[in-house]
Amino acid sequence: MPTYDYVIVGSGIAGLSFALKAARHGTVAIVTKKEKATSNTAWAQGGIASVTDQTDSFAAHVKDTLIAGADLCDEAVVRSIVADGPERIRELMDIGVQFDHHADGQPDLTREGGHSARRILHARDATGREIERALLDAVAAEKRITLLENHMAVDLITHRKLGLGAVEDRVLGLYVLCEKTGAVLTLRTDRVILATGGCGKVYLYTTNPNIATGDGVAIAWRAGAKVANMEFIQFHPTCLFHPSERNFLITEAIRGEGGKLIGRDGVEFMPRYDARGALAPRDIVARAIDAEMKRTGATCVYVDITHRGPEFIRAHFPTIYERCLALGIDITKVPIPVVPAAHYQCGGVQTDDHGATSLTGLHAIGEVACTGLHGANRLASNSLLEAVVLAHRAAAALAEWQPPTEPHIPDLPGWKSGRANDVDELVVIYHNWDEIRRLMWDYVGIVRTDKRLQRASTRLRRLAEEVDEFYWDFKITTDLLELRNLVTVASLIVDSALLRKESRGLHYNLDYKEQSEVFHRPTVLVR
Ligand code: SIN
Repeated sequence: MPTYDYVIVGSGIAGLSFALKAARHGTVAIVTKKEKATSNTAWAQGGIASVTDQTDSFAAHVKDTLIAGADLCDEAVVRSIVADGPERIRELMDIGVQFDHHADGQPDLTREGGHSARRILHARDATGREIERALLDAVAAEKRITLLENHMAVDLITHRKLGLGAVEDRVLGLYVLCEKTGAVLTLRTDRVILATGGCGKVYLYTTNPNIATGDGVAIAWRAGAKVANMEFIQFHPTCLFHPSERNFLITEAIRGEGGKLIGRDGVEFMPRYDARGALAPRDIVARAIDAEMKRTGATCVYVDITHRGPEFIRAHFPTIYERCLALGIDITKVPIPVVPAAHYQCGGVQTDDHGATSLTGLHAIGEVACTGLHGANRLASNSLLEAVVLAHRAAAALAEWQPPTEPHIPDLPGWKSGRANDVDELVVIYHNWDEIRRLMWDYVGIVRTDKRLQRASTRLRRLAEEVDEFYWDFKITTDLLELRNLVTVASLIVDSALLRKESRGLHYNLDYKEQSEVFHRPTVLVR
């Protein structure tokens, strides 16, 4: 039975950063669902927020994060993550990440919504891809790291799952599906680190890649770990609106560099909604666009950056320029059509400030985790920062940690498929997947009501039963596992949203339009 000191699920910035540090202390396996470079990180355009300029301060970064978080961030966590930022940025540069610099060697900092200063380090408009490249190069040189591509984590193996109820529950291993052979491997380990990213695919429209199916939250939940703040799903205000390109992000840095948000009449509408205009925090801008589209009946709004001139636009936003041009939109000449789309999961598996979850041996880092940094609405570009800081801390904490001594645990049981058949009708899986995504978009989107949430809850319960039947009746496949995870995460979002009888940050409910002191706390769900 393959045995590792650390098993990491996910190969984005959090998982790879953790792997590099953990490999100094033991053997590491990285389980990743598709090819190694396929991650949410690789899609991050804007950048990584950190205080690197003398005119900026930790206090200002903390204040901006707390304001964006709608008074629900854990202030101590915010302070410590912000303070650790510069050191982690230096480490990224040491392993070869090339952030943009001015000719005098100073970083070229950009700005995004909710930031009071220029503090976003970036690599043109493809920052995530550059970070991912450098991390993968470093991982390739590390002999103690085994990379299992096209392998999908199924479920944790714990004391409780094995019926060893007498001792404190903890992680003993992980079942992993090999997509190519269909075999399920049993990996033995005392330490599993979830770094699976978010769950954008729960919604019909998202800026996330196809892999973002909430796997980590669903796996942790099934194993009994606490999950927090899942009602706070961030909708990015500006996803490209085009029939053949449904999840392409138009980075907020475009607005940071002077891009205007206009309606089809060419008039800027944000000043009517917020004094900070197009650079107000994301929850406010996304809601304003939603309201504007409903008010005018328009199918999209526009970001206009044409006034910055072709040279500036092509130099700063080459990825967006090229992609839009290929679709017939020359962004140096015409405004870009955009709509809001699901972008980031601000809640997740609840952890302490070192990534430890409520289940011994299970850590969660990056978007999959809820540390308290984001509160009710994440400040732009704080996510990559959180990922590197928590990866570092989790690696340090786990290097010191020893699993409890306890009676000998027998070899872990292999996966049993029983009499399961191959899935006979794929259409059933795809139909349910579509149904979940559409119902989440229609009933659990930017603006919610109790009635819509109740409807979603009722339908999701029925879908969960159906998916459970497939799970037990058929041989597992990646599609089936993703569907199972999606329905679990969708239900967690709806259950959390139903518990919060107020409007705060990203959770806006027409039945309770105000913020309430009674709900000035995280929503924590325990299975
Ligand atoms: C963006 O580039 O607009 C996304 C950055 C983020 O989500 O933090």
